[in-house]
Amino acid sequence: MLSRGKFIVLEGLDGSGKTTQLQLLHERMQQHCKQRKCFATREPSESFPGLLCRGISRRSIQVENETIAMLFAADRYEHVVGELLPQLEQGNHILCDRYYFSNFAYQMLSTDLESLLAYNKKAMDLLHPDVTIYVDVSPEECAARRSTSRTSEELYEKVDTAKKIYRNYMTAFDALQQSERVVTINGNRDAQTVADSIWKFLTEQVFDKDDLI
Ligand code: TYD
Repeated sequence: MLSRGKFIVLEGLDGSGKTTQLQLLHERMQQHCKQRKCFATREPSESFPGLLCRGISRRSIQVENETIAMLFAADRYEHVVGELLPQLEQGNHILCDRYYFSNFAYQMLSTDLESLLAYNKKAMDLLHPDVTIYVDVSPEECAARRSTSRTSEELYEKVDTAKKIYRNYMTAFDALQQSERVVTINGNRDAQTVADSIWKFLTEQVFDKDDLI
């Protein structure tokens, strides 16, 4: 009987390269694990509230900011109960692109951390990541990487929002430092070098000896 799998979360600003890192890590873990399966997933997930969250991100659905925060948390609860916990209990590892720290960082643009902690309480009671890896790329660089717009005004707006989200991430990491294991990885390097740093950290400090079997 396999012990519970590891739950590893990647966080970062849009444009930080965390999705690429998640894919590279997923491939590496699959190469190592023959007995354990390794799944990659993301939030918003495929749940019904998750589909609404996607619609909100694409601006095809409009609701109050507080409702948005609750919907992301509702999607998380569905994801935890319906998918993440059952997989982990079977001994499978899970890599997740965004989890509750995204909710804190993005929704703190319009509400307070205390409310967000309350919305996420059920999911947090059920499942903490074994580690949250923050792929650190400056807000300016992330906004520039994502920018398809030509006007400096639009870029300025994107940088300004990215800076706020970055500060919110730092506030949330700081507020939860007693209960959460968060590691920051310098994402301003080529993708393979970043992937190697993440792998080194995980193999040295997170994985137990029977995790990569
Ligand atoms: P993401 O999957 O990174 O974007 P994409 O589908 O374009 O690759 O995440 C979608 C957006 O949702 C992203 O801008 C961050 C936001 N988000 C929140 O605002 N709150 C949350 O709780 C989560 C999980 C994501």
